[in-house]
Amino acid sequence: MPNHKIAKTISCVRDFQNQNPGKSIGFVPTMGYLHEGHLSLVKRAVKENDLVIVSIFVNPKQFNQGNDFINYPRSVKTDLELLSQYPIDLVFMPENNEIYPTDFSSKVKVDKITDYLEGHFRPGHFEGVTTVLAKLFNIARPHRAYFGQKDAQQLIVIKKMVADLNFDIEIIACPTIREKNGLAMSSRNARLSANERDEAKILFQALMKGKESILKGERNSGKIEALIEKTIQESHSAEIEYVSLNDAVNLAPLTEIQGEILISLAVNFGEVRLIDNILLKT
Ligand code: PAF
Repeated sequence: MPNHKIAKTISCVRDFQNQNPGKSIGFVPTMGYLHEGHLSLVKRAVKENDLVIVSIFVNPKQFNQGNDFINYPRSVKTDLELLSQYPIDLVFMPENNEIYPTDFSSKVKVDKITDYLEGHFRPGHFEGVTTVLAKLFNIARPHRAYFGQKDAQQLIVIKKMVADLNFDIEIIACPTIREKNGLAMSSRNARLSANERDEAKILFQALMKGKESILKGERNSGKIEALIEKTIQESHSAEIEYVSLNDAVNLAPLTEIQGEILISLAVNFGEVRLIDNILLKT
């Protein structure tokens, strides 16, 4: 089994980089509780780079509700076992005070595109994501960084931050990995009951219904959203937070759809908030 090093401090990451000059670095930032979705990012990073760094850090700044941070699933031992199956070079697992010392006082915020969707329903969330990623990018100094399409808005926000702030990093979007029943893989799925997990397959089915109606010629986003919502409501445990059709580039909400669009949703099953999306070209 490949053996990777573990770095708990930024100076250990620097030592690793100094020992490996001139190599391309692929970076997979995660919050742990790894699943097939994360592993697909790791596999791609291994294929495309000389060296791969994976980070595991549950970033408190991106949780807008304290309980969500506390309840976020964690399992470092299993994560390290899973990672040991891949030829990755370094796992960066900092403690909170390594990333946010007590006098930490900076923020990175992307405007406008963070006003919609997740940014609207989870105020401050993206500020937390961009702040930690700006730090992690400066620590890992990767050539390429890998993210899942499941967090579609996160990807768009990260690409904007990288362009605006001239990070010399290629952001690679990787497809959403799904369970056999269509449920998008997420660390949060672990907190669903067996029944909720089964019912949550409705999310992908509903997105597919929306897609089908667009392919048949429907262009009114209100009607498509209503169709998706009606489908989700067939599940007894689902509580819809939003279903939305937005421009896939600037995320502006659409009334009449055209061009590249993002259909996305957030739905609660019991205590667990799930998101999913698909991209479509009309
Ligand atoms: O997608 C995630 O797991 C997190 O938002 C990320 C990118 C690791 C930043 O904490």
